[in-house]
Amino acid sequence: MEKDMALSPVVSMQHISKHFPGVKANDDVSLELYSGQVLALLGENGAGKSTLMNMLVGLYRPDSGSIYIRGKLQDIHSPQDSMALGIGMVHQEFMLVGNMSVYENIVLGIKDLPFVPKVEEIRERIIALSAQYGLQVDPDAIIHNLSVGEQQRVEILKLVYRGADILILDEPTAVLTPGESRELNKIIKIMLSEGKSAIFITHKMDEVIAFSHKVQVLRRGKTVNTCDTASVTPKDLANMMVGRDVLFTLDRCAFNPGEPRIALKNITVENPIGSRPFLDDVSLQIRRGEILGIAGVAGNGQTQLTEVITGLLKATKGSLLIDGKDMTNSSPLSIIKAGVAHIPADRGHSGVVGDMSVGDNLAMKKYRTHEISSGPVVKRGLLRAFADKLIKNYVIKTPTQDTSVKFLSGGNIQKTILAREIDSCGGILIAVYPSRGLDVGATEAVRQNIILQRDKGNAVLLVSEELEELQMVADYIAVMFEGKIMGTKSVKETNTEELGLMMAGYGGTI
Ligand SMILES: Nc1ncnc2c1ncn2[C@@H]1O[C@H](COP(=O)(O)OP(=O)(O)OP(=O)(O)O)[C@@H](O)[C@H]1O
Ligand SMILES: [Mg+2]
Repeated sequence: MEKDMALSPVVSMQHISKHFPGVKANDDVSLELYSGQVLALLGENGAGKSTLMNMLVGLYRPDSGSIYIRGKLQDIHSPQDSMALGIGMVHQEFMLVGNMSVYENIVLGIKDLPFVPKVEEIRERIIALSAQYGLQVDPDAIIHNLSVGEQQRVEILKLVYRGADILILDEPTAVLTPGESRELNKIIKIMLSEGKSAIFITHKMDEVIAFSHKVQVLRRGKTVNTCDTASVTPKDLANMMVGRDVLFTLDRCAFNPGEPRIALKNITVENPIGSRPFLDDVSLQIRRGEILGIAGVAGNGQTQLTEVITGLLKATKGSLLIDGKDMTNSSPLSIIKAGVAHIPADRGHSGVVGDMSVGDNLAMKKYRTHEISSGPVVKRGLLRAFADKLIKNYVIKTPTQDTSVKFLSGGNIQKTILAREIDSCGGILIAVYPSRGLDVGATEAVRQNIILQRDKGNAVLLVSEELEELQMVADYIAVMFEGKIMGTKSVKETNTEELGLMMAGYGGTI
């Protein structure tokens, strides 16, 4: 009997289909998860991964098909229903309330909470669970003061507090530093040893190999393969996902830089509440026809660096020159006019307007140009043709250009931002984590496109946490640590070890 229990799946989704206007997001998909196991769910952007999981937690209802939890047929109408069955999900975009504390977020929405909650008991339980799983968080911290990695710990803690033993993690590592990803791996291992199980969505093949027991690959809403992780290589997986081999090398012209387009001289940005400045005497230049990569663990000043260049943050000291002209602390609009395009790190808050259509989001930076306007009048026909061209070139998966951006899959929202910014780039491109959330095929395409910008003579700043990406794409790499530039190295003359040491604050010369 016990043996049978162990062999029957904790989650069994059978013949699930779900359509949205103009798309069949899931088409007769079946999925099984066993106790103590991690199932990696893979697939291209828009393949239907998040949709399938949203049905398991009651956010969407399947059009057809059945869901069995621990062998019993269930009708899951809401996240409360799924929680009662022990299923919890950490979403692609976090769902925490920013101006509330950690513990308030953890108990928010629990139905049987007494009218006057016993705050001390809740706090003690949070502290005990934090210790049990190595999830360090301060119960009284306010969410918007926490790093992304810390916020994710709160999301996980929220689930274990509510007794979830089936965890769904939708691209949990897309926004984490490599160190934080390793922490997450440890937490998952502790959970598995307690008989919990997990479904893990990721676009990073090495994580699939490291974290999961089984892999299921979706393509255009259908399952194309389910197999044991031990039997596949990252290359096989990439091939299953996109239906062709993915190149891991990129074409580029010879490096032939021109004059500096951007020059930062001794830029300092004070941090009013921190012990060290955000940026500490930073000097660098980006030349025409050059990709300057910025390496470093997130939180070492990279965001502030790009915000100073794009006019979103004021420098306390130092100067910013664009094409030799002093643009220190100029407005974002005058910096855009000087030719600077910006792919921001936080696509949820500053990249798109969710309620606006895909077409309007793509055209947002073109309204004043003759490409879609004649004088002050926007020509709708030109705008539509322009948006269709970008949707095609960037392979943005959307039913029509009139669909609201908020209905696109995570990766397709990212592609919308990339398309708009790269297309409107007036010679200087500031790209922050451009491949975040993209599938392997789209990652390859965006990297190739960034190199194309350089080959065309544009100046590119590429911020990435993946050394491998920087080594593949950039010409020079500057390493940031605690708000300082530790050194700038030619990609050809450095190696992973040297860069890694500089990222940890050792060595480096300019
Ligand atoms: N609420 C919705 N309304 C309309 N269409 C939707 C909605 N949610 C998802 N879709 C569509 O369903 C398809 C599958 O989307 P889903 O978010 O499941 O993809 P995904 O595999 O998670 O992709 P990604 O890797 O980019 O996150 C997409 O074409 C998407 O536009
Ligand atoms: Mg998704």
